Amino acid sequence: MAGPPALLLLFLTFSLFTFLTESQLAYDYYAKSCPRFEEIIQETVTNKQITSPTTAAGTLRVFFHDCMLNGCDASVLLSSTAFNSAERDADINLSLPGDAFDLVTRAKAALELACPNTVSCSDILALATRDLVSMVGGPYYKVLLGRTDYRISKSSNVEGNLPRPTMDFSKIIQIFTSRGFTLQEMVALSGAHTIGFSHCKEFKSFLYNDTHYNQRFAQALQHACENYPKDQTLSVFNDIMTPNVFDNKYFQNLPKGLGLLESDHNLYDDPRTRPFVEMYANDQNKFFQDFAKAMEKLSVYGIKTGRRGEIRRRCDAVN
Ligand code: HEM
Repeated sequence: MAGPPALLLLFLTFSLFTFLTESQLAYDYYAKSCPRFEEIIQETVTNKQITSPTTAAGTLRVFFHDCMLNGCDASVLLSSTAFNSAERDADINLSLPGDAFDLVTRAKAALELACPNTVSCSDILALATRDLVSMVGGPYYKVLLGRTDYRISKSSNVEGNLPRPTMDFSKIIQIFTSRGFTLQEMVALSGAHTIGFSHCKEFKSFLYNDTHYNQRFAQALQHACENYPKDQTLSVFNDIMTPNVFDNKYFQNLPKGLGLLESDHNLYDDPRTRPFVEMYANDQNKFFQDFAKAMEKLSVYGIKTGRRGEIRRRCDAVN
């Protein structure tokens, strides 16, 4: 077992690593090299969200899936090649919506015109996510910039690193805590399900034998998913009360049996997470504060800076 000096050394090395990585980041990282960066993201995001209102939720989920696997390094944006099956083609990622990828492509195109070879795809995704969350009513938070993009993206690395609604709840918790997120942060982040939707395949099998659903809600869901699997595109809003608004209704729904996914129900049923669900259901400000802080933390999770990554010219292909 490591003794106190070894532990201290380990701690100092870890702190130094964190310091060195984060010290290369800055809120105004592009102030000189690409002064219109934030404005271009804002413009692209606004246009896209107005024409395709599902973009906000889609982008938030893409960002979450990128960060959880090896850090926020835009590896989820890479397309597969003849030699490599990329993260994006892992089955859990097949439902990531095209609108989110399209948004990044548009922003990148505009940025390459304004300041070629300067802005990373991972910074674009991080800032676009922040802008979209606040556009649909969620909290605004600061995003450190200066990430570089990673060229390794393998579908075979995905399984077990992203939560699935069918997973044992302790396994879901472990996915977050093993990355340094507390239970409270996990619950706050899960509040992302206040927007967006889920395909019937993600919850249909629970509808008939899960007692956590409100009965009428379960019947309505059975009806909505009647034609699945014939029509695999069938989907339902995650938050049936205010599906397009980022608020704390998702947490208010859970005690009433109005959660959609098995994992949503578990957040309320498990005594380890229930107190946080109750707290956020009662206090939207607290939810916003905690969600913002947890997103700031997620946004720098496992990121690469300097020569550990690259600035990709196209976000879907390595240079
Ligand atoms: C706690 C464990 C979680 C599980 C098991 C889970 C699972 C899922 C599933 C199955 C869907 C439906 C996808 C589809 O059918 O297209 C979904 C949607 C979504 N998830 Fe999660 N998720 C979790 C946590 C999170 C977190 C932490 C975030 C973000 C910080 C997030 C953001 C979203 C968003 C925004 C959507 C809607 C996507 C859209 O409308 O396109 N999820 N999630």
